[in-house]
Amino acid sequence: MNSSADIVIMGGGAIGLATAIALALRGVQVTVLNRDFAEAAVQAAAGMLAPQAEGITAGPMLELCLRSRNLYPDWTRKLESLTGMDTGYWSCGILAPQYALDGSPSTDTAMPEVDPFRHWLDQSGIHQQQPGLTDEVQGGWWYPADAQVDNQALSRVLWATAQEVGVTLREGVTVTALERQGDRLTHLQTTAGDWQAQTYILATGAWSQDLLPIPVRPRKGQMLSVRAHRCGNGPPQPLRQVLFGTDIYVVPRRNGRIVLGATSEDVGFARHNTPAGVQSLLTAAMRLYPPLQDLVMEDAWWGFRPATPDEWPILGHSPYDNLILATGHYRNGILLAPITAELIAELVDGQRSDPLLAAFSCQRFGNLATAALD
Ligand code: GLY
Repeated sequence: MNSSADIVIMGGGAIGLATAIALALRGVQVTVLNRDFAEAAVQAAAGMLAPQAEGITAGPMLELCLRSRNLYPDWTRKLESLTGMDTGYWSCGILAPQYALDGSPSTDTAMPEVDPFRHWLDQSGIHQQQPGLTDEVQGGWWYPADAQVDNQALSRVLWATAQEVGVTLREGVTVTALERQGDRLTHLQTTAGDWQAQTYILATGAWSQDLLPIPVRPRKGQMLSVRAHRCGNGPPQPLRQVLFGTDIYVVPRRNGRIVLGATSEDVGFARHNTPAGVQSLLTAAMRLYPPLQDLVMEDAWWGFRPATPDEWPILGHSPYDNLILATGHYRNGILLAPITAELIAELVDGQRSDPLLAAFSCQRFGNLATAALD
């Protein structure tokens, strides 16, 4: 029996690592068991920090997302100062161009007169904000507080920070079963032997159902990247902000890379790009921003979002006394990493349950979750 640590976290993606770091900084001994770092959703994402552009309009989910977005500048600064590495955090704002004006202020009666989180741009305003958009764009919303982080850089920084603050990281270890007695877990069965700790945190994302009957399913997203190259005296990165269009988002990095995403497919763990997926992304992206057609094709990949029926994460207590859940972040795992880490660390170490956690309990799925005790 491997006996660890106060805490074993199952899953070393953005949520698992951020939570491990938050706990380690509180002086808790943490081990992270990770199946395959390369498959974590954090590697596949685009890194948009986009509650507004994603259309999360009210209630506890919006509060969770806004609290997390507000944490981002300090959180990334702290990670960067602990490692000397760059996360690529960029408060660039997000522009949501529209081809038809269905959601414009004249048709949107619910919109308050002044909203600090979104401004409507008319046709000339939006083309000034981002030169190169197709003439089909009639106007659009500008979300100045939405931002982005370079998800791949962030994942490297999280891994390095976890090492720096003394988290034990075990890569290539798959948890195969949760062993329990009554309403407590006694140990984990893993591909590297049994593992024991006082408290366990499940942060296995799209793979959560392998261990517990909670409703988290993989939702595949295919993605592409292109690279801007200098044309004459043009800028190395022609895009000034993220574009969140119809069936496409276009995410510019400061280093000239442009990430295009993403499909949303209910096809299980199908580990490949498809011609149809790639074609749909390229067609939608080149329609929105025609200069993309002359840039340099770079890469194509896919990932698996952990989707729940209501698209909210599952956070907090589980049917087992010593098992905490931090999974099911669906489209918002990178955005929600800092707030998840803070709330879960407070719950586990500080024995304080933030009132916001109640809305994200697995109990909202009734016996789907309590079936674990049968
Ligand atoms: N957050 C964007 C996506 O999941 O595609």
